[in-house]
Amino acid sequence: MDYLLIEGGKPLKGSVEISASKNAALPMIMASILSEKSIRFENLPRLTDVDFALRILLELGGKVSMNKEGHHIVADVNFTNDASFIAPYDLVRKMRASISVLGPLLARFGKAKVSLPGGCAIGARPVDLHIMVMEKLGAKITVDDGYILATADKLKGTEIIFPFVSVGATQAAMMTSAMAKGTSVIRNVSMEPETVELGHMLNSMGAKIEGLGTDTLTIHGTDSRTLPGPNKPIKVIPDRIEAGTFAVAAAATKGKVEIKNAVSEHIEILLYNLRESGVCVENTKDGFIVDASNTDKIKPVDIITSPYPGFPTDLQAQWMAYMSVANGNSTITEKIFENRFIHIGELFRLGARIKYSGNQAFIQGVDKLKGAPVMATDLRASACLVIGGLVAEGVTEIHRVYHIDRGYERIDQKLSELGAKITRNRE
Ligand code: EPZ
Repeated sequence: MDYLLIEGGKPLKGSVEISASKNAALPMIMASILSEKSIRFENLPRLTDVDFALRILLELGGKVSMNKEGHHIVADVNFTNDASFIAPYDLVRKMRASISVLGPLLARFGKAKVSLPGGCAIGARPVDLHIMVMEKLGAKITVDDGYILATADKLKGTEIIFPFVSVGATQAAMMTSAMAKGTSVIRNVSMEPETVELGHMLNSMGAKIEGLGTDTLTIHGTDSRTLPGPNKPIKVIPDRIEAGTFAVAAAATKGKVEIKNAVSEHIEILLYNLRESGVCVENTKDGFIVDASNTDKIKPVDIITSPYPGFPTDLQAQWMAYMSVANGNSTITEKIFENRFIHIGELFRLGARIKYSGNQAFIQGVDKLKGAPVMATDLRASACLVIGGLVAEGVTEIHRVYHIDRGYERIDQKLSELGAKITRNRE
């Protein structure tokens, strides 16, 4: 296994190009199961989760060809009726997002057998809302020896109201109701940019989804089991969480970084809070510049995570690393996942002063952090520790860096190009 070695205390300076979004790419790759014709993805990020999603389609019997073009992957996916409708445990358990094959397989084949994904470090991650969606659309669901078995001769449009916002369950509802007979109205849906992009892709494939970007979707289904397919290659939006991660890293190291190929509206609330913390953020034609080079003291800013357009839970850990060196006390309230404070234990090792109870963390800013060996536990906790290491005096080793490679393309190379002293080493 690899580990990252960071010698901290260097302000980040320069510009960084953001990659395409992991969380937009994954459901879009799964949606290609619904397409009658082959789909070309022209700018997939080179991430283990994306490789894995393409491998799942391959193992299901889809035809997938991938070419590395510079820093991107160009992938052609052609899913046909002689593919399988069974997604096995050893694939699904490695990536939770695999659950989103359930709807498309059910719609295309009239049946789907998908392993329950199991939990992960940040929580139990149940899929009861995914199952509720399939049942509401008329599927018969049984859960047996760790598998969900769904069957439906023909799905029927209906009204669905989510009890709370779920990104994955919203995306499952879109992909499945688009293939149902008749119209569905779905309320209290995710408005995340990644969900909106999935909707645009489905519409380009021939679906009829109205209300994208609002909390209510009206979806006019079809009698067919597939959608015609898009008439041009699919381009994936920039990764707003990667952009936010680099923005926080620039602020925490008191540097000045231009974040290129980013959509500032997708993380407006983060940029707002960075300004509140005393950092200058200005929009540019293809992203924004974070300038903390004249920020004497970082002002503490409280955050509460919530569905888009609220503060993204995927930037919570990074924000905590930043507030660890603020000039004063702040709170972080995590309202999306029940166990997303694992990174606190590792931040302690760098000298952070944080207490927490339930879903609230209380951070007492310290003058400086001190480098130490730490261990990554999940994707965004790894990013938090990278920021901690960049800020800390001395050397930080971050072990189990495979977590970070799931969602950040060449993070050590991109940080080196910004002046960080960071190397990737073999254990
Ligand atoms: C997506 O996960 C993202 N993953 C997550 O990013 C992100 O943190 C999350 O949305 C919230 O924004 C991908 O897009 C691949 P949810 P998802 O359904 O869809 C509960 C990252 O680091 N819930 O919106 O799984 C759930 O336990 C990852 O890139 C149910 O109870 O998240 C959570 O508490 C981490 N039942 C809450 O809803 C269900 O059936 C929100 O989860 C589904 C979810």
